[in-house]
Amino acid sequence: MTQNLYDGRLTVVDHPYVVDRLTVMRDVDTPSPQFREHLKTIATFLAYEALADTQVEHRVVETPVQLSKQPTLPDLAPALISVLRAGNYMVDGALALSPNSPVGMVGLKRNEETLLPDQYFVRLPENMGERLVVACDPMLATGGSLCHALKVLVDQGAKDMRVLCLLAAPEGVEKVLDVFPDLKIWTAALDDHLNEKGYIVPGLGDAGDRIYGT
Ligand code: PRP
Ligand code: URA
Repeated sequence: MTQNLYDGRLTVVDHPYVVDRLTVMRDVDTPSPQFREHLKTIATFLAYEALADTQVEHRVVETPVQLSKQPTLPDLAPALISVLRAGNYMVDGALALSPNSPVGMVGLKRNEETLLPDQYFVRLPENMGERLVVACDPMLATGGSLCHALKVLVDQGAKDMRVLCLLAAPEGVEKVLDVFPDLKIWTAALDDHLNEKGYIVPGLGDAGDRIYGT
């Protein structure tokens, strides 16, 4: 089950088995191990939807019965980019679907006062311009971190980009789609708004802290 919003640029994957896990993640009493496990599983479902239009190639396979032409994935797998820290478990979930994907990382920490991202690390795969590039970050709040990460990817040659995020706020979606009008985003929920501290409401709190127990 999905909903297409913002002219089809935001897909909300509100499948019952996704939203039930998200509800568990929102619960303040859910411990880190279960939070991480659900984040990974939801990321697999989001990647499944986001990569559904992959153009398959064909190869001849010898079954026990006969030779047969069958569909196969293209050689160049999409690059998966983790927006650190919280993006790591989403990348793990996406790798369950696309195990041959190379993985890159953009390390960002949002300044709690200015709400602007500080960059502390970048390491990206080769051939960014030839692959689909899928950025993974659970929280799309003001959109500052995602815009920054996507600019880093564009500077490294990325042309065809998509985003997987667990939860999005309308403010962040609008900002990111303003800056990157051709972008497509997949999320498990579009929440109501941001509070005065830049947290998604109702949200789930600080994703990085809940994942890593900090
Ligand atoms: C969180 C989250 C996003 C960012 C979203 O990371 O994982 O990257 O905040 O906020 P924004 O849309 O307002 O920029 P954070 O900076 O807390 O770092 P962490 O993953 O290390 O906890
Ligand atoms: N980052 C988070 O981890 N949670 C929010 O609600 C907003 C930004």
